[in-house]
Amino acid sequence: MSLKGRKILIGMTGGIACYKIPYLVRLLRKAGTDVRIVMTESATRFITPLTLETVSDNPVAVQMFPQHQYVSIQHIDLAVWPDLFLVAPATANFLGKAASGISDDLLTTVFCAVTKPVMIAPAMNPGMWGNQITQKNVACLREFGYRFIEPTEGDMACDEQGVGRLPEPEQLFEAVSAFFRKGAKKKLLTGRHVLVSAGPCREPVDPVRFLSNRSSGKMGYALARAALEIGAYTTLVSGPTGLIPPPGVTYVSVETTRQMYDAIKRRFGRTDILIMAAAPSDYRPVSVAAQKIKKQSTSWQLRLEPTTDILKTLSTRKKTGQVLVGFALETEAGEVNARKKLKDKKLDLIVLNSLRDESAAFDSDTNKVTLLAPGGRAERWPLMYKDEIAVKLLEKIARML
Ligand SMILES: Cc1cc2nc3c(=O)[nH]c(=O)nc-3n(C[C@H](O)[C@H](O)[C@H](O)COP(=O)(O)O)c2cc1C
Repeated sequence: MSLKGRKILIGMTGGIACYKIPYLVRLLRKAGTDVRIVMTESATRFITPLTLETVSDNPVAVQMFPQHQYVSIQHIDLAVWPDLFLVAPATANFLGKAASGISDDLLTTVFCAVTKPVMIAPAMNPGMWGNQITQKNVACLREFGYRFIEPTEGDMACDEQGVGRLPEPEQLFEAVSAFFRKGAKKKLLTGRHVLVSAGPCREPVDPVRFLSNRSSGKMGYALARAALEIGAYTTLVSGPTGLIPPPGVTYVSVETTRQMYDAIKRRFGRTDILIMAAAPSDYRPVSVAAQKIKKQSTSWQLRLEPTTDILKTLSTRKKTGQVLVGFALETEAGEVNARKKLKDKKLDLIVLNSLRDESAAFDSDTNKVTLLAPGGRAERWPLMYKDEIAVKLLEKIARML
């Protein structure tokens, strides 16, 4: 669905990530939306209203009580105007005030008055994001039905690493587009927790080398997007892929199979649906060399040991009502081997990937899958885009709950 003609109010609070907003405004304007901006005083310390007025082509509102301009009920005008109110970046301070109903400036007053859908994109230092008070405020706002665009993980402006970054402008734009797109979609998984794993794992050999596989992660990322769109709280545990995590997911970046197992195990108890679309390694080197292994003229052997089978291990802790879905990729006797996995790992569904079709290869955007469930007949799906497969698969899984 087009964004053309939509009215979007952006609320900016005082975080370093304010610098990403002019570019977001340009993207929104290019897509035909009308954008207005309200800023806190702190936000104006990071970027000037002039820049935002120029890119939005609208006056920017900052003051609750403007001196030279009498605006009778500015906060109410702004609150009733938009189709969507996006607060980005949202500071820890804003989250605290919003969760407590404090309205001591124009932005928080608009937030209190608005009756239209609101999305909040927090951005802050990982310590501030991890703080239990911040998390309590986020949980409280979620409970009230506010939508969140989750902060991503990576390098921070403060030179730290961790979760707290504002997603890139393109990701924020995609979150806004997805909001209007999914307006019509059925929320089959509202309130459910879906955990998707994606991508390959890497098992280090020495400080510069690793063993890995050719999984691209595209199927897993498509599943995470589809789960979000039908209302699920979605966690994406991903190996290294280079793909951009869908805005709105709780993103956990891992590298080794052990890390993937730990990340999933920690969240398994509160997961309703686990979809293992990742390709963890079956083996890892017994020991990792501390220094780079030098090239030798003779052959040498690398000793490997099996890694933990994530699905098999977790299936022993499966609770009633939880749904476990696996993916299989076989180069021979596909259906026979997939059925064996289905049984051994006590899965509710297994999705067998095809390697036979050219358009269903590793890095492709399309795939051809066969679905196998205990006691059921094989369901062969035609070649489809991974996004389409993801939506159909999620709808099927939702019916299994
Ligand atoms: C350089 C600098 C960067 C900051 N970045 C952030 C940030 O990213 N997130 C955040 O929550 N607070 C950040 N702060 C602190 C907020 O600006 C401060 O809490 C302020 O009171 C927020 O006001 P507001 O929520 O009304 O905009 C930063 C402060 C400074 C000086």
